[in-house]
Amino acid sequence: MYQHLPVMSREVIELLTPIPQGTVVDATVGGGGHARLLLEARPDLRVLGIDRDDDAVAAARKNLVHFGDKVQIVQGGFENLATIVKENTEGNIMGILFDLGVSSPQLDRSERGFSYWGEAPLDMRMDSSQELTAQTVLNHYTESELSMIIAKNGEERFADRIASRIVANRPLQTTADLVSSVQEAIPARFRRSGGNPARRTFQAIRMEVNRELPSLSAGLDESVHLLSPGGRVLVLAYHSLEDRIVKDRFARWAGEREQTLPGLPVEPNPRRRVKVLTRRALRPRASETGSNRRARSARLRAAEKLTVPAGS
Ligand SMILES: C[S@@+](CC[C@H](N)C(=O)[O-])C[C@H]1O[C@@H](n2cnc3c(N)ncnc32)[C@H](O)[C@@H]1O
Repeated sequence: MYQHLPVMSREVIELLTPIPQGTVVDATVGGGGHARLLLEARPDLRVLGIDRDDDAVAAARKNLVHFGDKVQIVQGGFENLATIVKENTEGNIMGILFDLGVSSPQLDRSERGFSYWGEAPLDMRMDSSQELTAQTVLNHYTESELSMIIAKNGEERFADRIASRIVANRPLQTTADLVSSVQEAIPARFRRSGGNPARRTFQAIRMEVNRELPSLSAGLDESVHLLSPGGRVLVLAYHSLEDRIVKDRFARWAGEREQTLPGLPVEPNPRRRVKVLTRRALRPRASETGSNRRARSARLRAAEKLTVPAGS
């Protein structure tokens, strides 16, 4: 069973409801939670769903089967968004949704190695055909590479100590080996607060294995070219580094980075390609975070492709 509660679904559907008729690319379709709600709200749209995970692709095909040929599901990575969209649609892309990170089933199936509960092989691949696994990262990267990844992706203050313990404990075979390396590295008085001490390190290694930040940059860069005028791109991020990439891209597309020096008047920018619809990232409502832990860190941003580039 594939069970995943779509995050901020009310806000996502509200932001996609006004788009013109056409195709919406759900670049992280998962089990099809957002896609189903969207097609119920706007039965005139078509959806191209993409996911790199076999299990998600199978679940989305099953869960969306009753929408017939309005839905197509493709296995692939959104870093190849332009190719996938060109091969599978006739254009007229009016929406692109990225709901980043891992799904509940990925975390819940302990054999996939994403979770710090239990004992499983150090896998953590979303796409099981990919070569790089967590085991390779942990056993073959240098100590300084590991420390940098854990500090940056995990925002972990004890990254140096954790990297040093991992190297001392090599070869690591299971998720339990990684948990104990983290526990040995973190001073006892810091182990008791802030949830499981291994959470940030698992997140960091997962992001490295799946190249999550470079994929996001690549997918976003392609999305703005693929959208038709009036179309909208939405991104749900769960990590401050992801959200910063999204915020920067949107600001650049909106021409905000290049347009003024302090004190000079704001001129229309000929390179302005989008209007940002969310000045600040939207956050989930308290009623949602109360019932869905995954939603707590969610930040939603949206932008709309301009009909005619301003100033042209
Ligand atoms: C949070 S879940 C999406 C859940 C979905 N919105 C729903 O409502 O069921 C994120 C999904 O994105 C997929 N994913 C992550 N990075 C990806 C990438 N670069 N390309 C394609 N899929 C990706 C994961 O495999 C996972 O299934």
